Amino acid sequence: MTPPTAVIRHQRPEDLEALSEICLRTGHIGGDARELYRDHDLLPDLFLRPYVALEPDLVRVAEENGRVLGYIVGTADSTAFFRAFRERWLPTVADRHPPPDGPPGTPDEEMRDLLHHAERMLVPEIAALHPAHLHIDLLPGGQGRGLGRRLMEAYLAALRQRGVPGVHLGMDPRNERARAFYERMGFTLLRSPSGAGVIHLGLALDTGG
Ligand SMILES: CC(C)(COP(=O)(O)OP(=O)(O)OC[C@H]1O[C@@H](n2cnc3c(N)ncnc32)[C@H](O)[C@@H]1OP(=O)(O)O)[C@@H](O)C(=O)NCCC(=O)NCCS
Repeated sequence: MTPPTAVIRHQRPEDLEALSEICLRTGHIGGDARELYRDHDLLPDLFLRPYVALEPDLVRVAEENGRVLGYIVGTADSTAFFRAFRERWLPTVADRHPPPDGPPGTPDEEMRDLLHHAERMLVPEIAALHPAHLHIDLLPGGQGRGLGRRLMEAYLAALRQRGVPGVHLGMDPRNERARAFYERMGFTLLRSPSGAGVIHLGLALDTGG
């Protein structure tokens, strides 16, 4: 059971550093990615900060005794999000993370390449029926205590309020724990033409309409 001290709330500007740290510490198959990437800003600049900048009203944070333990971020409209990513987000970080000179050869280069082609993560067939997407991460100390469910329910409620018909996510199939969590939340495997290393799960939302 979650102690009553844990709260789910909207983000505040002062959360950004803690949220970035959580993104990095959960960024490799759900575990710590600090050893994998030399540049510790890469994962947050791809998977966290653009959402905070472009979709601030959808961010939800789990906090306990003044410490941020986790977050959920996302967008209601993935097509519009990746357009805004290119037009408004990428220019703010492109100098810090230049594209690799040739085919990516290291984990950092793979992420820098993805940053400059983030729309690769958009699968139009999936976004057509499930236009929203999300990323959810909790520090190890926050896991397995119902906070993931609470973050997800808060996020899904915000999507329903906006009349969004469905939500999807892309994940590393090796992350079995996350997959079990998503399935428990009602997500199912979507047929996905995307490349190796990513599977997509989706959930239709009843918006009461
Ligand atoms: C995946 C993650 C978000 C799940 O959040 P969580 O707080 O650990 O999950 P909860 O405790 O809220 O569990 C919610 C439900 O899922 C179920 N569940 C969670 N993990 C499970 C598992 N490994 N196997 C079976 N069921 C599981 C719980 O039993 C619970 O069911 P209930 O609410 O009906 O009793 C969290 O563990 C996490 O952040 N992991 C590291 C980062 C990560 O992998 N992020 C996802 C990247 S794709």
